[in-house]
Amino acid sequence: MKIEIKKGTKLSKEFIDIFDKAKQSEFTSGPIKDFSKYSSDIFFIIKSNNKTVSFGHLKKIKIDYLGKQYNLFGIANLISIRKGEGYGKNIVKNMINYAKKKNKTLIGFCKKHNKKFYEKCNMGLNKQLLKRFLYKNSMNKHEDYVIYFEGKDEFIQKVILTKSNITLHIPFW
Ligand SMILES: CC(C)(COP(=O)(O)OP(=O)(O)OC[C@H]1O[C@@H](n2cnc3c(N)ncnc32)[C@H](O)[C@@H]1OP(=O)(O)O)[C@@H](O)C(=O)NCCC(=O)NCCS
Repeated sequence: MKIEIKKGTKLSKEFIDIFDKAKQSEFTSGPIKDFSKYSSDIFFIIKSNNKTVSFGHLKKIKIDYLGKQYNLFGIANLISIRKGEGYGKNIVKNMINYAKKKNKTLIGFCKKHNKKFYEKCNMGLNKQLLKRFLYKNSMNKHEDYVIYFEGKDEFIQKVILTKSNITLHIPFW
């Protein structure tokens, strides 16, 4: 299975259209108005017979927690256009390898119907942590679990062993 890993500035117009349409139909979000907000993200794309079948991207997330700054990767918009063929798992496997190479923790959020999928991808899942991640003093009301793959910074362990809230400076992604 061949995977392309590229920056948000290097995507084709064709891919951006596919991404936009799939995102709207899977997450009932509106059309993307300004793609530049994805410029610094790292995209993972799988094609089969020259057609995009699965993708996702990593956002660079900065978090200040208990006096220390953490640079994490946020898993975003993971979508398999062709489902149940192992493509989604392959994207996550590549994201984990990428994060390992960069010594970073991966973090994201998911609904309960995707719990099994992320377990099969060897991601950690934690329900209790969800209410401690806040953006503008609000918690994430649309998801059920924090998903993570712990990096060398041991950010998740630090959060589990302490009690403070984690303030995000960007909306839940
Ligand atoms: C979630 C999603 C990305 C999974 O991608 P996929 O390519 O269909 O998943 P895979 O084929 O790689 O599945 C990997 C494993 O997880 C299992 N799995 C996948 N979805 C599952 C589900 N909803 N419930 C239980 N098991 C599931 C598969 O059976 C497979 O198991 P195996 O390794 O034992 O064979 C895909 O269903 C999707 O695009 N959903 C809509 C968008 C979405 O919710 N994205 C996630 C946002 S957090």
